[in-house]
Amino acid sequence: MNILGINAYHGNASAAIVCDGRLVAAVEEERFNRVKYAAGFPSQSIRYCLKEAGLALQDLNYVAVPRNPYARLATKLFYAMRMPSFARERVKVLAKFTSIPDALAHTFDTDPKAIRARFHRVEHHQAHLASAFFVSPFERAALLSADGLGDFASTMWGTGAGKRMKIDGAVAFPHSLGLFYSAVTQYLGFLKFGDEYKVMGLAAYGEAEHLDVFRDIVRSNGSGFRLGLDYFTHHHAGPEMSWADADKTPTLGQMFSENMEKRLGPRRKPEESLEPRHRNLAAALQMRLEEIYLGMLKKLSERTKLKAVCLAGGVAFNCVANGKIFDNTGFEQVYVHPAAGDAGLAVGAAYYVWHQVLGQPRNFVMDHAYWGPGYTGEQNRRAVEASGVSRNGCRIEELPEDLLMQRTAAIIAEGKILGWFQGRAEWGPRALGNRSIVADPRRSEMKEILNQRIKHREVFRPFAPSILAEATGEWFEKSHPSPFMTLAYAVRPEKRDKIPAPTHVDGTGRLQTVTCEANPRYWKLIKAFEQQTGVPVVLNTSFNDNEPIVCRPEEALDCFERTKMDALVLGDFLITRR
Ligand SMILES: [Fe+2]
Repeated sequence: MNILGINAYHGNASAAIVCDGRLVAAVEEERFNRVKYAAGFPSQSIRYCLKEAGLALQDLNYVAVPRNPYARLATKLFYAMRMPSFARERVKVLAKFTSIPDALAHTFDTDPKAIRARFHRVEHHQAHLASAFFVSPFERAALLSADGLGDFASTMWGTGAGKRMKIDGAVAFPHSLGLFYSAVTQYLGFLKFGDEYKVMGLAAYGEAEHLDVFRDIVRSNGSGFRLGLDYFTHHHAGPEMSWADADKTPTLGQMFSENMEKRLGPRRKPEESLEPRHRNLAAALQMRLEEIYLGMLKKLSERTKLKAVCLAGGVAFNCVANGKIFDNTGFEQVYVHPAAGDAGLAVGAAYYVWHQVLGQPRNFVMDHAYWGPGYTGEQNRRAVEASGVSRNGCRIEELPEDLLMQRTAAIIAEGKILGWFQGRAEWGPRALGNRSIVADPRRSEMKEILNQRIKHREVFRPFAPSILAEATGEWFEKSHPSPFMTLAYAVRPEKRDKIPAPTHVDGTGRLQTVTCEANPRYWKLIKAFEQQTGVPVVLNTSFNDNEPIVCRPEEALDCFERTKMDALVLGDFLITRR
């Protein structure tokens, strides 16, 4: 039984293929078309997924689409009557949605009648919940989707047991924790789609200010929350983001109202410097998010009496809040889908069909994130030979694994910056040791060096540590696994000066715990670094420079040449600048 999941005509367009309950491939369109957060129809992702699974279009039994235009129809009609622009947008969405079979046929240059698969609509948040629960290691768990907006809701919770999920509640439009965070992110002068994580990094530098106003902006309410709508515009300007074509990064209109400026002071323009006031407001934003999010999770744990929780939705990327779950709720185990945002809907919708619709038993756990394109040694070799590195004096060596790990670890320990390209690309926005830039965590200056030479990003944003899973408790105050970099823990105080580069200003690190089973080669690299330095940690940041993470070996080589990286490991090749 072959199920294709597609997130189309929405940010983070993506595809995933599930065969007999096992995930075979999953990838975001941005990795192919090189447009960050690309929307549109994920043709290249779909072609890749089917190729990876060895399937033709005719072999698909189901196509799962994580959107249900008929969900919350009464509420939609209510807004459509009040807002003609919204009504027009709905009509467009419906037209796009009904054209998905045509777009799929077009992708394979065939007639829509050739598609034998049945199409199945899955409501947005149920797809998020499915993406977290059905691939988690838990037989029973509480579930929470905390998000911006999808199918006219922002939040949903329930429980999962075996092959079934049960929905217990939801928060409908216009109330949304994700939109709250996005609106204040905009107010603070970060206007790009996906900038929320920058503000999360900034928050650690401030002292929460105007918390009383933030408690008025988002108010606790029973199991959920409500927004103080006079601080926002989305409820009367139109709730749907108009997703541009696949070749454009999504953009958002202004979401905060004049009232927010009246209560918090003037907005920051993007070109203005960051003042202490802005840092303090970011801190208050993060604190209020945590109060609501952790409060909801606490109630969920009390109600369900379950010890495990599965999380998805854009808010579930808030690793700072996630790291506080253990101390503030009854939950002892947490699973966050690695693509917790809307890319993950492709996996969630496919698994929803497999379990919830078809009633198939569970037989898969997503314990690593390497579901994207991989390349053979021969493809790597050809890419190296065709690239400029062989002409511009770089030294190129092909080495056996043990020697490669020793040499590479030594390069990192010397303070050099390493590009690291191995195996299949990561699923989700984090580089997890297959498309990473790796550096020495012991050098406090490394953060600045990386920012100046490679990443060209805001100085206040932290870099993340990858740690041997078995050493986690020795270096961090929590030891629960964080394989997908979705949890931030406090670094043990006595260890902070040993790994200053990936330790954030508040003493935390957004860690990736690396096991030998999940990523043997990356684990061996960190192990070799530990043997040479006594530190089982490396600094890990994504392999890119203000672009989607590199996917193909050619892109890795190109990024290496463009930036000032010192060395590149590409499969078995070690490339060093002379
Ligand atoms: Fe979503």
